[in-house]
Amino acid sequence: MREAVFMDEQGVSAEMEWDGLDGVCYHALALSSTGDAIGCGRISPDGHIGRIAVLSAWRGKRVGSSLLESLLGYARSQHYSQVDLGAQMHAVPFYQRFNFIAVGEIFIDANMPHIKMQLSLKNS
Ligand SMILES: CC(C)(COP(=O)(O)OP(=O)(O)OC[C@H]1O[C@@H](n2cnc3c(N)ncnc32)[C@H](O)[C@@H]1OP(=O)(O)O)[C@@H](O)C(=O)NCCC(=O)NCCS
Repeated sequence: MREAVFMDEQGVSAEMEWDGLDGVCYHALALSSTGDAIGCGRISPDGHIGRIAVLSAWRGKRVGSSLLESLLGYARSQHYSQVDLGAQMHAVPFYQRFNFIAVGEIFIDANMPHIKMQLSLKNS
């Protein structure tokens, strides 16, 4: 999934993609009704969400939203007070739908502009 979306489609290097953190993260995997993997995402123990990817043919069908809801549900179950992520600029409106707020300056990661976004889970 991540090879198809991040490496092949977006040009992220293997060294950057496989950053060694997968083993400590909680992962969400979206499956089609026929059991094929169509989307994924992860959250680290410090509440950092990342690697949200939906295969191009499946975008716009709420798969990404379901993945994010699953990861936020996990964060709430672990009583995290806040989560954050580094959003690719094109995806900022997607995260804003979940009330994430952009903070700080735009930065470059994997040769793409990103911005940090945060969501407080207090009282939610
Ligand atoms: C970003 C991504 C995960 C969204 O997944 P998705 O399954 O297409 O999103 P959803 O169908 O749940 O979209 C929910 C809403 O957000 C909007 N949205 C989704 N992606 C968007 C984008 N890139 N820009 C603006 N709005 C977006 C949708 O239009 C939809 O709005 P609607 O309810 O009015 O139709 C997907 O486009 C993707 O995998 N992109 C490539 C990898 C990537 O860039 N990941 C994010 C890294 S920060």
